[in-house]
Amino acid sequence: MVSARFNGKAAIVTGGSGGLGSAIAEALASEGAMVAIFDTNAETLQKSVIALETTGAKVIGEVVDVRNDEEVKSAVERVAKSFGRVDILVAAAGGSLGTPRDLNDISEADIDLVMDVNVKGTFNCARAAIEQMKKVGGGSIITFSSIGGRGASPVTGVPYAAAKSGILGLTRRLAKEVGPDNIRVNAVAPGLFLTGRLQGMFDALAESERNEVLNAIPLKRMPEINECVQPVLFLASDAASYMTGTVLDVNGGRLMPS
Ligand SMILES: NC(=O)c1ccc[n+]([C@@H]2O[C@H](COP(=O)([O-])OP(=O)(O)OC[C@H]3O[C@@H](n4cnc5c(N)ncnc54)[C@H](O)[C@@H]3O)[C@@H](O)[C@H]2O)c1
Repeated sequence: MVSARFNGKAAIVTGGSGGLGSAIAEALASEGAMVAIFDTNAETLQKSVIALETTGAKVIGEVVDVRNDEEVKSAVERVAKSFGRVDILVAAAGGSLGTPRDLNDISEADIDLVMDVNVKGTFNCARAAIEQMKKVGGGSIITFSSIGGRGASPVTGVPYAAAKSGILGLTRRLAKEVGPDNIRVNAVAPGLFLTGRLQGMFDALAESERNEVLNAIPLKRMPEINECVQPVLFLASDAASYMTGTVLDVNGGRLMPS
């Protein structure tokens, strides 16, 4: 039987109808959390909400663009009103968002998009959630960096590396600022998890680049999605009560930063 670590807790998962986000939303709900999903994709959002509702979970779906501070603030307020609280934010909305990897193919709009969704979006959601977390005496925020923000991955380009490194700075600085409010802020930095979006990118790499990734994984296999979900749930839970400002590298040992 699955334990109910999150009974009575309210969680917001941004990008919560995407590959990793939907798996995290489902896992949080299966362990007792009330879950609000924020996503720009109305179609996948509706499917995720219906899937969670059929399990009996309390769930809210909000079409929200995390880049828009006003949209974020009002959606977070609606969640707090409906669930009575906000305890957990999983800021998974992000990615390279279909932008090119190679330097000369990257436009100004591409770099703006990647920085805005990943960095500004995480900032907007964290700030709005913190206001609600203070009212219940604390909370846990999990931000999404990437192996591409921890080192030079061949899979993604410079804007993604900059954004995902930026999220680490944001995480540390925020952790310092809201620690006295009993709000913890930690990052996960996943390696390559072959969600639908990433499978296409991985398949499009040259064979030598695919081998560069695979040969560099000491565990010698690609991960299951749940192997990213569980570290996120750990950071969200009381088991991580003395951890803040940290980053968990979830990459099978492909990168081991000192
Ligand atoms: N999958 C991986 O291998 C991997 C590795 C490292 C880091 N990450 C990070 O994990 C997070 C989730 O990745 P994923 O593979 O599940 O991606 P995904 O593309 O499957 O899902 C991302 C979700 O975010 C939503 N989204 C995009 N822009 C948005 C916006 N402006 N506002 C709100 N929602 C928006 C999308 O509609 C989608 O549902 C991302 O931040 C990504 O960079 C993923």
